[in-house]
Amino acid sequence: MKFYIPPQLTRLAIAFAIFISLFLVLRHFLVPDTFGEYGHYRGASLIDNALPEIHYAGQQACFDCHQDIEDLKKQDVHNDIHCETCHGPGQKHVLSGEAADILKPTGREFCGRCHSTNAAKQISAVFQIDLKKHNVNRNCLECHNPHQPWKMKK
Ligand code: HEC
Ligand code: HEC
Ligand code: HEC
Ligand code: HEC
Repeated sequence: MKFYIPPQLTRLAIAFAIFISLFLVLRHFLVPDTFGEYGHYRGASLIDNALPEIHYAGQQACFDCHQDIEDLKKQDVHNDIHCETCHGPGQKHVLSGEAADILKPTGREFCGRCHSTNAAKQISAVFQIDLKKHNVNRNCLECHNPHQPWKMKK
């Protein structure tokens, strides 16, 4: 008995063979060298991800040298706001201990970022004041300690 292979099947087989070889060749050139080294990803991406400079230190690092401020802050309503939310990224300062390497925010606009009246903000989450009415022309820091805002300065 003789098998009859229809010509359209032969053509299909050839087409498949071409596509599969093309796929294998392309794959060889496109897949990065370290792919699959540890799992279904590019092994070298671990190195790439470790390269970017670290900017934030986390507030635990601040407590090491600023115990006094930690003590102040934890007694009042700003306790849940981490140091770097207001002082900006602090890794450079943590390493150097230099004042120039850390931001010391000032001005009504700064506090207003969170506290100025805004209908989109929930009063129960953040108390709001109207910057145009609340003790105008005076710096918030004259009366409120940023680390203990509810205890007024004398
Ligand atoms: C290794 C110790 C150390 C660590 C950690 C540290 N600081 Fe300081 N910080 C200092 C010293 C020392 C000064 C005082 C520098 C001076 O007066 O010259 C200072 C000053 C400051 C000042 C005042 C800057 C100024 O312009 O007067 C701020 C704000 C500050 N630190 C915030 C932070 C924050 C936020 C962190 C955590 C991200 C932090 N510090 C972590 C040592 C440290
Ligand atoms: C709500 C914003 C806010 C948070 C949160 C905050 N700070 Fe401050 N911090 C300020 C402002 C504003 C000043 C400037 C005070 C001034 O000039 O009178 C300041 C000043 C300082 C100073 C200079 C010395 C002083 O007492 O004025 C240090 C040091 C400091 N902060 C460290 C910290 C550390 C450490 C943390 C976290 C434990 C922290 N701050 C959290 C806003 C904040
Ligand atoms: C990152 C946002 C943020 C910044 C910046 C910020 N605050 Fe606050 N503040 C809060 C939150 C959250 C609370 C706790 C919720 C509340 O009671 O409003 C709070 C509470 C307060 C309260 C007590 C309000 C109350 O009735 O309980 C005062 C006063 C205050 N902040 C003043 C300041 C001053 C002054 C500054 C600038 C030095 C400042 N805040 C910067 C978020 C912020
Ligand atoms: C002259 C002193 C003084 C200055 C300057 C000042 N405050 Fe106040 N602030 C007070 C006093 C006193 C209260 C409590 C009584 C009241 O609500 O007016 C208060 C209350 C607040 C409250 C709570 C409001 C509430 O409804 O519970 C917030 C938030 C606040 N201030 C933020 C700020 C911010 C932000 C600035 C700067 C833009 C600022 N304050 C400037 C004295 C001051």
